[in-house]
Amino acid sequence: MEVVLAKTAGFCFGVSRAVEQVYEQLEKNQGVPIYTFGPIVHNEEVVEDLKSKGVQVINTEEELAAVEEGIVIIRAHGVAKRIYDLLERNGVTVVDATCPFVKKIHKKVQESSRAGREIIIAGNPVHPEVQGIIGWCETPVTVIEQPEDVERYQWDPNKEYCLVAQTTYHYQKFINIIEILKKVLYNIICENTICNATHERQAEAAQIASTVDAMIVIGGRNSSNTQKLYEICRGKCKDTYYIQTVDGLDTGWLTSMKKVGITAGASTPRNIIQEVVTVCQR
Ligand code: F3S
Repeated sequence: MEVVLAKTAGFCFGVSRAVEQVYEQLEKNQGVPIYTFGPIVHNEEVVEDLKSKGVQVINTEEELAAVEEGIVIIRAHGVAKRIYDLLERNGVTVVDATCPFVKKIHKKVQESSRAGREIIIAGNPVHPEVQGIIGWCETPVTVIEQPEDVERYQWDPNKEYCLVAQTTYHYQKFINIIEILKKVLYNIICENTICNATHERQAEAAQIASTVDAMIVIGGRNSSNTQKLYEICRGKCKDTYYIQTVDGLDTGWLTSMKKVGITAGASTPRNIIQEVVTVCQR
């Protein structure tokens, strides 16, 4: 059986960089307490492995405020400015693994709000990345989840605005939001801050799924980007299977298949993907 593995399967650049940074810190700083603010990646296996090596996960700002020594690693999603300030006040070493693409959004909203613009973010208001972006704004912020939400707000045409997007926001919806906003606001800067990693992973998955007999999508049950990948692949290939690890793979599914495609969500580590590839190739 031929197996086609998507090049974009698994961790994106920002997440793999963040995970590598944690392992690097572990190696360089033995005996020093190491924390990550939130799980470094939405993958239990990786988080458990790091835990077994001594990395502790801090979940709340209150817990973070109680840390007085050691190293705190900021994950790829990034955090609000006040978190850096808090850690600095407490004399804690910060290792900033914020994805450079997210960092760019922080800079943009900070500069724009300092120039007097109000900020509009297209994204999920409770997502940690969006919470982090909000924390760099110095003027009022509005978070828009869906294009149809734009009309629910009172916009002031005399004010200046800056629109950015959560890095994983849906491209077409972002374009729709821009179109609606431009009708009511004359002074708005729209910055497309959507990261291509998601789009590229989805486009490659669709392309592979349309050329194989069966498609396997690997990722956590609660991973929304994996669910999305599954839907896209299912639309192109009816024999698409969603598994979390190799244990979920039933080789019976593939018996009569000549060509199988494999992709994985953004938080699926390499070794899990490799295990599935190996079993399919047997
Ligand atoms: Fe990943 Fe950074 Fe893009 S974390 S999805 S490469 S914004």
